[in-house]
This record gives sequence, structure tokens and C-alpha cells, in this order.
Amino acid sequence: MSLERLKEIARDENIPIVSDEGLKLIHQIIIKHQVQTVLEIGTAIGYSALAMASFGCHVDTFERNEQMIEQASKHFDRFDAEKRIRLIPFDALTYTGELKMYDMIFIDAAKAQYERFFEKFQHYLKPNGVIVCDNLRFHDLDPQNVNRHTKQLLRKISGFKSFLKNHPDYITIFDERGDGMSITMRHHT
Ligand SMILES: C[S@@+](CC[C@H](N)C(=O)[O-])C[C@H]1O[C@@H](n2cnc3c(N)ncnc32)[C@H](O)[C@@H]1O
Repeated sequence: MSLERLKEIARDENIPIVSDEGLKLIHQIIIKHQVQTVLEIGTAIGYSALAMASFGCHVDTFERNEQMIEQASKHFDRFDAEKRIRLIPFDALTYTGELKMYDMIFIDAAKAQYERFFEKFQHYLKPNGVIVCDNLRFHDLDPQNVNRHTKQLLRKISGFKSFLKNHPDYITIFDERGDGMSITMRHHT
């Protein structure tokens, strides 16, 4: 089994994972910022965590869904030969256990909660670290043509983008690649 096989499993089981383009961008960020440690919010079946481990990073990754935890653990046991990944099987928002300080935080979980994830986990970012969020274009859905729930989600995502743009402590670049990603770093005055 390989990362390609994991991608197929995700496709067959309709599990959303980072796009090829998105992963390429993450790889570039990891190289540019010399990222060695990553905190990921949203493991799913472990695809992006294993990919980042294959780029040489140590990854701590949160997942709250029992079935995903089971699948990801299986995949990590099989592929993470160098034990670079730690699965944290908890809801990231209520978790009160120990965490390290990270070079990169990758937010790829419940879209409606991005601001809360950001607020909570920014405290675990090293001074020159970078926060990356996925799916900010959210499949380019048209707010006029979606149900009420999705409309609300689109509004939340749009609110989160404004939050990033207007944040006094951070500077953010929005990259249209993949499903839209934000790349955020601290202002250094
Ligand atoms: C888009 S998938 C992650 C995909 C993965 N990063 C990849 O690219 O391979 C989002 C995952 O986040 C998990 N999730 C959502 N909210 C969460 C939370 N508050 N704490 C932990 N996991 C969460 C979901 O159960 C789901 O499996």
C-alpha cells in the first residue's frame, strides 16, 4: 500500500482529503519555512499526515471521529515506519492535554470552526511559524445555489477570511491553488 492507494481509498469512500495541488503547496511551504514539526487538525484516514511525514516532518494530528481514528491508526502502524506521527484521538476544541510548539499548524477540520481552531492553536505556533488552512474556496460553491446549511457554512468561511485579513498580529496570503488555502505568519514589527 502507498500514499496513492490511500488516495484511492479516500476517493472510494468519499472521504475529503487535501488535493494534489494543495499538497504540493504544503510541500513548498515546508521547504521554504524549514518546517520540522506540524500540528494538524483533522486526520481523516491519515493521508496528509503521512504525506507530511514523508517530507521529513514530525506530525501531531487530531481526529475526533471513531471510524477515522481506527483507519488512520491502521495506516500509521503500517506506513509510519520512523514513528514521525502521533495521532491525538480527541476533539481538538475540547482537548486539554499536552502539546508542543510547532513550525506549522495545518487546519483541515470542521470548516465552521476555523476561527475557533485558529484562536486556540495560535498559542502553539513558534515565533516564525506558519498557519495553513485548507478549503477556503470550498469547491467554489455559489451561495445562491446551495441549501441553508451550506449557505451558513459559506458565510462562516467568508467571515474567517475577513478575520484573517484584518487580524492585527498576523499577515495572510490567500492562495487559490487546490481548494483555496491561507498561509498566515506573525507580523514582526
Ligand atoms: C477534510 S478531513 C481531513 C483530511 C486530511 N487532513 C487529509 O488531507 O488527508 C477533516 C477531518 O477532520 C475531523 N474533524 C472535524 N472537526 C474536528 C475536531 N473538532 N477535532 C478533531 N477532528 C475533527 C473530521 O472527523 C474529518 O475526519
